Order: sequence, then structure tokens, then C-alpha cells
Amino acid sequence: MAFVVGEEIERYAEAHTTPAEPLLAELAEETRSTLEMAQMLTGAIEGRFLELLVFASGARRVLELGTYSGYSALSMAAGLPPDGRIDTCEVDEQHAEVARRYIARSPYADRITVHVGPALETIERLDGDFDLVFLDADKVNYVNYYEAVLPRLGERGVIVADNTLWSGRVLDPDDAEGTRAIVAFNEHVRSDGRVTCVQLTVRDGVTLIRRSE
Ligand SMILES: C[S@@+](CC[C@H](N)C(=O)[O-])C[C@H]1O[C@@H](n2cnc3c(N)ncnc32)[C@H](O)[C@@H]1O
Repeated sequence: MAFVVGEEIERYAEAHTTPAEPLLAELAEETRSTLEMAQMLTGAIEGRFLELLVFASGARRVLELGTYSGYSALSMAAGLPPDGRIDTCEVDEQHAEVARRYIARSPYADRITVHVGPALETIERLDGDFDLVFLDADKVNYVNYYEAVLPRLGERGVIVADNTLWSGRVLDPDDAEGTRAIVAFNEHVRSDGRVTCVQLTVRDGVTLIRRSE
């Protein structure tokens, strides 16, 4: 599924990306056949992108907001060092159940913890700093998540915010709650003198953010 780049170029890029591991392919299939909103799943290109970002950044402690069925958590886990950890937050029990089942079958079961409940509450309960935060939960809370995790970023920490181009609707925003929230988030980050950011036209828009102080 193409969000912001043309379908043909998206297919070409996917064909020149290392295919997903069999377990992830099976997870994607089960997600599409049993869960609603399957377009929420990050998919092959962004999954490898997240894996390589974790690998290249040397991140050891990752926080994910929005587990869904676990595709991105498992993708990022593949880039972690053996002593790396991922805390992933999910409010929907059914989504968390699917994620936990695949995590248990993966080589990373000891590195990923699924926290069921509102992510803002989970963030408060977790101790310590994060090397990488993947922001992919409810869009209406994006600014709240950003303000909650920015002070918790490690020295070389980075926030990775998903869906920041919102299928292109940022160009001509409709009045939908999600669109207004993403537009507000993009302006909030861009005008924030505490950070350096880049918005990438990967999949549905990915914004990378680091503290610049
Ligand atoms: C876009 S999906 C995440 C996709 C996932 N990262 C992946 O790659 O497959 C967003 C998820 O956030 C969850 N969610 C929505 N509001 C939430 C909240 N307040 N706290 C935690 N999770 C929430 C939804 O149930 C959904 O599973």
C-alpha cells in the first residue's frame, strides 16, 4: 500500500528491500485476515528501516507507543544488541494478545515487554531514559507523547514519529481529528528550538527528532 509515494516506486523499493523474516510475514498475514485497520501495520520497508535505525544508532533501550500486532517491535528487536530491551505500549487487549503470541515465538521474547494500557500512564510508570522512541499510537496524543518522552531521551536519543504525512492530507487538511492532530504535531516539532528534526517521505511520513541542546 502506497501512502505518499507512487504505488509503482513503492513496489520497486519493496522489491529491493530484504524480504521480511517468515515469522513477520506470517504475522502480517494473520493481521490482515483477523484484525481491523490492517493498514496500520508498518510493513516490510518501514520495518527494515526501523531495524537498521536501531542497529545503526546502537540503541539499547527502545520505547514503542502503539504495538498493534507487534510488527514494528519485532522489526526493531532484530536491530538490538543481545542485552537490548524494548518496552511497547498497547491499549487494545486483542492487539496485545496477537503481539505477545508472535513475540513468544520469536528469538526476541526476552527482549520485548508488552505493556497493556494507555501509553501516557505506562510512560510514567517506566524508569530511566530511552535511546529510541517509536511514536505510532493515537495521533491525538502525539504532542503529549512528544512532551512526555523528550526529557527522557538518552544522550544520543532519537524520536521516530510515524504517519506524519498522513496520506498527504497535511497538504490540504480536512477537519478530521487525526489530521488536525498530525498537522499540530508537525508545527509543534518544527517550531521547537530544543530539537533538530527531519521529515522523511518513507511510507506515510516518518519524522526523526533529536534534542539539539
Ligand atoms: C498504528 S497502530 C501501531 C502499529 C504498529 N506499530 C505496527 O507497526 O504494526 C496504533 C496502535 O496504537 C494503539 N493505541 C491507540 N491509542 C492508544 C493509547 N492511548 N495507548 C496505547 N496504545 C494505543 C491502537 O490500539 C493500535 O494498536
